[in-house]
Amino acid sequence: MRTILVTGAAGFIGSHLSKRLMKEGNNVIGIDNLNNYYDVGLKKDRLKRLEYKNFSFVKASLEDKDKINQVFEENKVNVVVNLAAQAGVRYSLKNPHAYIDSNVVGFMNILEACRHNNVEQLIYASSSSVYGANTKLPFSVHDNVDHPVSLYAATKKANELMAHTYSHLYNLPTTGLRFFTVYGPWGRPDMALFLFTKAILNGEPIQIFNNGKMMRDFTYVDDIVESIQRLAKKKAEPNLEWNGKSPDPGTSYAPYKVFNIGNNSPVNLMDFVHAIEDKLGIEAKKEFMPLQAGDVPETFANVDDLTNDIGFKPQMAIKDGISNFIDWYIDYYGVKL
Ligand SMILES: NC(=O)c1ccc[n+]([C@@H]2O[C@H](COP(=O)([O-])OP(=O)(O)OC[C@H]3O[C@@H](n4cnc5c(N)ncnc54)[C@H](O)[C@@H]3O)[C@@H](O)[C@H]2O)c1
Repeated sequence: MRTILVTGAAGFIGSHLSKRLMKEGNNVIGIDNLNNYYDVGLKKDRLKRLEYKNFSFVKASLEDKDKINQVFEENKVNVVVNLAAQAGVRYSLKNPHAYIDSNVVGFMNILEACRHNNVEQLIYASSSSVYGANTKLPFSVHDNVDHPVSLYAATKKANELMAHTYSHLYNLPTTGLRFFTVYGPWGRPDMALFLFTKAILNGEPIQIFNNGKMMRDFTYVDDIVESIQRLAKKKAEPNLEWNGKSPDPGTSYAPYKVFNIGNNSPVNLMDFVHAIEDKLGIEAKKEFMPLQAGDVPETFANVDDLTNDIGFKPQMAIKDGISNFIDWYIDYYGVKL
């Protein structure tokens, strides 16, 4: 039986992943600091769904080096999946330090703990936001990503760079995952699907950025979990053809890889809004706004590497995914329609 340490286990993706990893027969240790970036009650309710005998929970911050080291010393951890982070592009404009604390200092502590405790592989969340000012679509892991447009994106790119040095120096297999707008039941209250559903049900206006001229490669949480579950059985391997004269950004001579995990099928923001309206049977009051600083107008994932390496491609149709989310929302919040 393998022990997989999941940071951010009370989070949206981390709670779904922990449940699935246990179902596959793994022991799961969950770490989360249960911070109040959004409703702590929702985080605690997600944790309640994980109360099985092969799950243990440690309330800790990644920045707390001693506590993190203690968890690794007291347990034989085979695989680490680092999902804990300060997420959100817009929040990074007002609270930049939170991103350095969790995403840079915290990630450093995870890397060091992996190095000193013979962890077999580290998988960590990066983000589609690393593509920043790139406009060549679909976004490919083999393109250069040196032009982030938010501090959030810069910290995620920094994680990829830090991971590479540990793959190079200590032979630690690292796999970075660039998630593309993840949605689904138990989703995040700061993200569009949750915000729109809540506002429409309350008869409040929804804010539509860039006047609706946005495309997002929405990815259903089960597709993310399926991908991580498969990658947890497959360590990153060196690319024997990697050549420093024309360095491929997505692979390395060291055991280092990055993957896009997206639906490979971008959805127009207005079609997304209409799918929510159709499911709820209510027309949204719409407030059209300019593009927010730090945001990008379009995301679109090339997932060829993921398909080649794990034989899986995210597949949930947006209409079905939205429907599942709204069913969960109505049930969880006891909404009377
Ligand atoms: N959801 C998306 O669309 C999306 C897209 C791209 C990347 N990501 C990344 O995926 C990961 C998971 O995202 P999510 O949507 O589940 O977010 P989430 O906020 O729901 O989950 C993150 C969890 O980590 C915890 N946490 C935050 N900082 C911490 C710290 N310093 N120490 C300990 N715990 C801490 C939070 O309490 C939270 O429960 C994050 O790294 C995020 O940046 C998410």
